[in-house]
Amino acid sequence: MHHLVFATHNKHKLAEAAAILGSHIRLFDLSQIGCSEDIPETASTLEGNALIKARYVNEHYGFDCFADDTGLEVEALGNAPGVSSARYAGEPSCSEANISKLLSEMQGIDNRRARFRTVIALIINSSELHCFEGIASGRIIAERRGNAGFGYDSVFVPDGHQQTFAEMPSDLKNSISHRAIAIGLLADFIKDTL
Ligand code: IMP
Repeated sequence: MHHLVFATHNKHKLAEAAAILGSHIRLFDLSQIGCSEDIPETASTLEGNALIKARYVNEHYGFDCFADDTGLEVEALGNAPGVSSARYAGEPSCSEANISKLLSEMQGIDNRRARFRTVIALIINSSELHCFEGIASGRIIAERRGNAGFGYDSVFVPDGHQQTFAEMPSDLKNSISHRAIAIGLLADFIKDTL
């Protein structure tokens, strides 16, 4: 069975990835390999941040590893908040403040198009790099709706749906989300390669 590290401290992300990757991959998160550091995400792109994290684990711990980074890209705001999504309203990261800032920036703007974009960087055999991208397109509504989910879920309605991500059952969100799409591409690659 192939061992693979997901460079995250988030147990929900780990469980979601494990379910998609299937039983022929033994998946570990950072705490399971003894890594308690918060790996700094200092790049100016999602790709750069995902690569920093995957490379850090591979260099310091020697495992095949993948890492993800996600941003909300709003068309009328020039793709902001993008790589700064977690800290759009400043430190410390606060979803309520981020949403308030987003809604106020979008007041009076007719173009509500937006997308979540997840990038996964995978490093195998110490140097081989592969990237996977998942996109969920939709629109930003004017007021919060729904209590499930996290981040910007309560103001994002994906294309083809009426509910926000925060109003949907989590199973539905997890089957159409940017992260699920990116992990699905990773799973297809791994099935053929590892
Ligand atoms: P991360 O790269 O997964 O940590 O995501 C960075 C930031 O993007 C989070 O702090 C959230 O603000 C936002 N974000 C990522 N994924 C989602 C999602 O599925 N729904 C809503 N917001 C998200």
